[in-house]
Amino acid sequence: MILRPLRDTAEDAEIVRLVAAASFHDSHSEGDPADEPTWPERPEREDELNRWFARTDPDGCSVAVDDRDPDGKALGVALSSRREGTWGLSLLVVVPEAQGKGVGRALLEHAVAYGADCPRGIICGSRDPRAARAYRAAGFTLHPTMRFGGVVDPARLPAPDGAVVEGGARHQELMDGVDRLRRGGARGPDHAELLRHCRLLVADDGAGSGYVYVDGGKVVTLSATSEQVAARLLTAALRSMEPGVRARLADVTAEQEWAVDVALAARLSPRNAGYLCLRGMRPPVPFVPSGAFL
Ligand SMILES: CC(C)(COP(=O)(O)OP(=O)(O)OC[C@H]1O[C@@H](n2cnc3c(N)ncnc32)[C@H](O)[C@@H]1OP(=O)(O)O)[C@@H](O)C(=O)NCCC(=O)NCCS
Repeated sequence: MILRPLRDTAEDAEIVRLVAAASFHDSHSEGDPADEPTWPERPEREDELNRWFARTDPDGCSVAVDDRDPDGKALGVALSSRREGTWGLSLLVVVPEAQGKGVGRALLEHAVAYGADCPRGIICGSRDPRAARAYRAAGFTLHPTMRFGGVVDPARLPAPDGAVVEGGARHQELMDGVDRLRRGGARGPDHAELLRHCRLLVADDGAGSGYVYVDGGKVVTLSATSEQVAARLLTAALRSMEPGVRARLADVTAEQEWAVDVALAARLSPRNAGYLCLRGMRPPVPFVPSGAFL
């Protein structure tokens, strides 16, 4: 097995998508039903996301290939990024037939080395015990997470307690400021990619500042300077969803009681999920990470 860099090509984007689909399907089929689709859900969007990281972080993204196979069959993929001192792992997957043989560990070691100079690290980890073991061995603290799902009943949610406006590229400075305060570093260029795919809602008044990205029923990520504004943004995001759409909110640690309260008020169902894996930082509050943009 050898590692090669991920290329910004349609072929490599498809390889990542197929390896991810195979690996997650298998891991969830063993008594662990995949009732929550991953984000993004559409293949073309997923490919764009994979190519985004191949472009922004070519040295943090690699493909493990079988060097004995004449076609160089892909065995696994890791996508990682560095943004203002925060290293993040967006994807770590190994095809079912190669799992448990050290491929994931090798991919992770390469990705972690890419973030060696970063004081902070973040991974939205799955429930796979091999992932938990590998992340813990790499020095991450595992914070158990909840995910919430269900059809929102808007009548159960109060109107937001202040102004929430449609956001855009003009809010980049505000969002970078919120994230430096909240998670230690800004997401910077990733907002361009998020804005291409998601709806952005922003709040900024005497109660604080913050933003939330929404894609259909998925709350992609939320960051704010106060719990009041965070709850307001989550409320607005849930109320803005099309009637009948299944809402999804994931990677919520116990610290995010403001989010638990809004989700339960909306009658979403909680369940245990994986782990928010952090190095060099405590769980940022109030904050909901993005699995891809962390
Ligand atoms: C998680 C995943 C990437 C790990 O890759 P892998 O190649 O299967 O894992 P490895 O063989 O490198 O093993 C990783 C560690 O788990 C250990 N391990 C293997 N099987 C295990 C099991 N059933 N339970 C607990 N630990 C196990 C290994 O011994 C190894 O630890 P070590 O290096 O200290 O010995 C892979 O299994 C996968 O794709 N899973 C499904 C998708 C997923 O959940 N990805 C993680 C997203 S956050």
